[in-house]
Amino acid sequence: MKLKSKLLIIAGSDSSGGAGIQADIKTATALGVYAMTAITAITAQNTTGVKSIVSITPREIFKQISFSAQDIKPSSVKIGMLHNVGVIKEVIKAIKKHKLKNIVIDPVMVAKGGQRLISNSSINFLREKLFPYALLVTPNIPEAEALINKKIKTLDDIIKAGKQILKFGPKFVLIKGGHINKSIIEDVLISKNNIKIFKNKKIKTKNTHGTGCTLSSAIASFISRNYNMNESCRRSIQYVHKAILLNPKFGRGHGPINHMALLN
Ligand SMILES: Nc1ncnc2c1ncn2[C@@H]1O[C@H](COP(=O)(O)OP(=O)(O)OP(=O)(O)O)[C@@H](O)[C@H]1O
Ligand SMILES: [Mg+2]
Repeated sequence: MKLKSKLLIIAGSDSSGGAGIQADIKTATALGVYAMTAITAITAQNTTGVKSIVSITPREIFKQISFSAQDIKPSSVKIGMLHNVGVIKEVIKAIKKHKLKNIVIDPVMVAKGGQRLISNSSINFLREKLFPYALLVTPNIPEAEALINKKIKTLDDIIKAGKQILKFGPKFVLIKGGHINKSIIEDVLISKNNIKIFKNKKIKTKNTHGTGCTLSSAIASFISRNYNMNESCRRSIQYVHKAILLNPKFGRGHGPINHMALLN
């Protein structure tokens, strides 16, 4: 397979291989994109839970981004969880230094179990200082609620929340509807002049470990290959859907999805 473009991934490591930087690299590779990485944290985890997290220093994160990007210029960037203000500052410094473009931010801040993973001051900093550099941000419903300090219940609420998040500066917002309890999931792409709703059947399975990471790196991969935003989201949502359907049933907890799904 010919590698068609280059993606820089800024995210944490998941030792179980289903989410985080491991999911991001598998996704980019499956979609024909060359992956580079800046690791922000190392987790010891499996499909049943997280055992420990070790953070990498902000300076070391800056160096990983800067040293790789100055040699191989990324065509797009995927940013996952950034755990504190110091890290966000260094990432912004690197974005400016290398004029990084096509930035997709997955604003991970709420764990699958509902616990907040980052502080309010980090959420504010992320939204005020990093979002202006984003082409796209991809919050799920609890993350969108934390970003606008309002509850989201209906499709109308989702659209209003998206419009509000656009004011922080990203060109597009994709709000993932998986957390609303319905048999059809609606993922909603919002930009200044357009709203596009992607509808899919909710698959009954506990094996959805890493769907959020996979979706955002798939979108960043398609963007790096010059697909437009609508088409990148459509293809990526379809990819994640198929990857869940073909999940390998590994592990005793929330198992991984199948990143090679499109190739089957
Ligand atoms: N059970 C499911 N069936 C079908 N599609 C799903 C299912 N769960 C998630 N998805 C899809 O996966 C993508 C990622 O959405 P999800 O809501 O899982 O993100 P997330 O909450 O950020 O995930 P994560 O917990 O991995 O961070 C969306 O396109 C969503 O529609
Ligand atoms: Mg997520």
